[in-house]
Amino acid sequence: MAQIIGVVTTSHVPAIGKAIARGSQQEPYWRPFFAGFPAVHAWLQRTQPDVAVMIYNDHGLNFFLDKLPTFAVGAAAEYHNADEGWGLPTIAPFPGDAPLSWHLIESLVQDEFDITMCQEMLVDHAFAVPMQLLWPQGPPWPVRTVPVCINTVQHPLPRAARCYALGEAIGRAIESYPQDLRVLVIGTGGLSHQLEGERAGFINRNFDALCLDKLVSDPQALTRYSGAELVELAGSQGVEILNWIAARATLRGPAVRRHASYHIPISNTASGVMLLERAAA
Ligand code: DHB
Ligand code: FE
Repeated sequence: MAQIIGVVTTSHVPAIGKAIARGSQQEPYWRPFFAGFPAVHAWLQRTQPDVAVMIYNDHGLNFFLDKLPTFAVGAAAEYHNADEGWGLPTIAPFPGDAPLSWHLIESLVQDEFDITMCQEMLVDHAFAVPMQLLWPQGPPWPVRTVPVCINTVQHPLPRAARCYALGEAIGRAIESYPQDLRVLVIGTGGLSHQLEGERAGFINRNFDALCLDKLVSDPQALTRYSGAELVELAGSQGVEILNWIAARATLRGPAVRRHASYHIPISNTASGVMLLERAAA
C-alpha cells in the first residue's frame, strides 16, 4: 500500500525562484533562507519519496477570479508552468501520476469533497518554487506529482476546519492506494504576509510562532480561526497557512518535527520551512 513518509511545508515566494535562477543562494540576503533546506535535502536523500502531493494555491495562472474552485486536483500526465509576470524562467514540466490522481479524486468525492478535477493544469510559482527548493538539482524531477489547489485568493475561503478535513481525506485516500508508493505531502505558502493595501508588508511573528508550534502539537487548534480572523492575524496572503493546515492533517495523528526554520523577510513574507513525520506509535 502507499504510505505517507512525511510532510514538508514551505513558503513559495516568487523572488525565491529568481534567486535560484540567478544562483544567489549564498548572497547575504538569501543565505539565511536557503540555510533552512539542506536538512530537508538530507532527509529526502534518505527517504526517497516516489510521489509528491503538492497542496498549494494557484495565484491566477490556472484559475482566475472569474472561475475559482474552492478545491481542485490535477489529473494530468504532466504539468507545465508558464510566465506569470514575475520574470521567472519557465522550467521543465513536472511529471504527474494520473492513476494516483484519479484514485484521490474518486476517494475525495466519495468522502463528499466536491472537488474540481483538472486533466490539464498549469502550475504556478506556488508549485514550482517548492519543487526547486526541495530538489535543487532540478529536472529530471525525482518524484511524480499530484497538484491539489485550495482557494486562498478570493473570499469566501474554505474554513480552516474544512481544509483540515480535506487533508485528512487526502491522507486516507493516499493510504488506501494499493501500490507500494512512498508519498511526500507538501504544503506551500505563508507564513504571515500581506502584499497590498494599507497593511502591505504586514508580518506577525507571534502568530507565525503559534502556527509553527500548533501545526506539530495540536493542529486542530488552528481550525477555530475564520477566514477574516486569519486575514487579520496572518495578513491577506498569510491565509496560505490553510495549505499547511491541510498538509499537516494528512498525517491524521501525532507528529514529530524533524526540522524547522523561520526567517524574516523574504520579499514581503515571513518565510518558513518545516519537516514533520508521523510520531512512532
Ligand atoms: C510574495 C509572496 C507570495 O506568497 C506570493 O504568492 C507572491 C509574492 C512576496 O512576498 O513577494
Ligand atoms: Fe502566495
